Amino acid sequence: MSTYLVTGGCGFIGSHLCAALAARGDRVRVLDDLSTGSPDNLVPGAELMRGDVADAALVRRAMQGVSGCFHLAAIASVERGVQDWLGTHRANLTGTIAVLDAARPGRLPVVYASSAAVYGDQATLPIAETAPRRPLSAYGADKLGCEQHALVAGVVHAIPTLGLRFFNVFGPRQDPRSPYSGVISIFCDRLSRGEPVTVFGDGEQTRDFVFVADVVAALLAGMQAASTEAPVLNVCSGRPTSVKLLARTIAEVCGVAPVVNHQPARSGEIRHSLGDPSRSRALLGLGEPAGLGEGLQAVVAWLRAGRPGVTAEARPAAPVR
Ligand code: NAD
Ligand code: UD1
Repeated sequence: MSTYLVTGGCGFIGSHLCAALAARGDRVRVLDDLSTGSPDNLVPGAELMRGDVADAALVRRAMQGVSGCFHLAAIASVERGVQDWLGTHRANLTGTIAVLDAARPGRLPVVYASSAAVYGDQATLPIAETAPRRPLSAYGADKLGCEQHALVAGVVHAIPTLGLRFFNVFGPRQDPRSPYSGVISIFCDRLSRGEPVTVFGDGEQTRDFVFVADVVAALLAGMQAASTEAPVLNVCSGRPTSVKLLARTIAEVCGVAPVVNHQPARSGEIRHSLGDPSRSRALLGLGEPAGLGEGLQAVVAWLRAGRPGVTAEARPAAPVR
């Protein structure tokens, strides 16, 4: 049994990771400021240290006695980076340097969340890890900064790291009502209640949607793949889905006829985003990713169950009388 620190462990992806670590018998310590995460997402038995990941002294304490760190805490919103450039920089890049710095004494491995946002708009698809990095946002620039500092951590301080560039992640516990929600959580929420959805532009734009269970599998396998060479890998499905098809598929899962309103395309939006998963699959030994339909069913089931947090899910079911 090992103990792992999970920063951002009360968030969407972090809560799924903590549940998987606990299920395989590991101990979990979570560092989270609960800014977008929820205490309802704390895995039973996990220790919560509430605070800021950019607080170096706190992170050093959190790192004591652990075998490694999964670093997911971040302000995971491109829009927030536009409004609060410095504030998001502190959480997203200074926070990562605080984690790497705290890993120095024991040269502890750090697996951290990067993002497809480091690529910006690419002409060649699918996007391999070797594609030029051209972030178009403060959020993407800070994630690229995390990768650069991970290189420094390896070369200068012999700290093993692995960066995972997540594409559009979806799954239960992604808050559908947040202003920064992804399209899947918004569409599932609205269509499951029989409400219309809005498609921006012609709906032919595509994204690479990756189910959260596949992201967790990559994170878990990634702890063994962390190295002082600071590798970075895509975490994606390798399958393009248009927004139009997405609306139809979600409506099917919900058993409703989709009512779709159209609005002009969002300005500055990327037309197509598609990752190449071959390198991460080979290096991390990952299996076939979940099908879109399978993942959507899990999201709709979670919404229909009243959006339970991890705590409620872990509670034993009431006895049947
Ligand atoms: P989330 O907002 O659900 O989780 C982030 C967690 O970090 C939350 O629990 C939040 O309270 C915590 N946090 C935020 N700022 C903090 C701070 N300063 N100190 C301590 N805790 C803090 O988001 P998520 O979707 O689970 O994202 C997890 C990670 O994956 C992030 O690093 C994000 O940038 C990255 N990522 C997510 C996606 C996606 O599609 N969801 C895509 C690419 C990358
Ligand atoms: C992501 C960011 C966004 C940022 C963009 C920069 C998230 C959730 N969004 O957007 O803030 O500006 O990267 O590249 O991280 N869509 C609809 N109807 C909706 C919602 C979305 O048609 O109600 C469409 C969008 O126009 C887009 C697609 O669905 O074409 C996916 O949108 P979204 O889930 O926001 O992700 P990104 O476009 O990747």
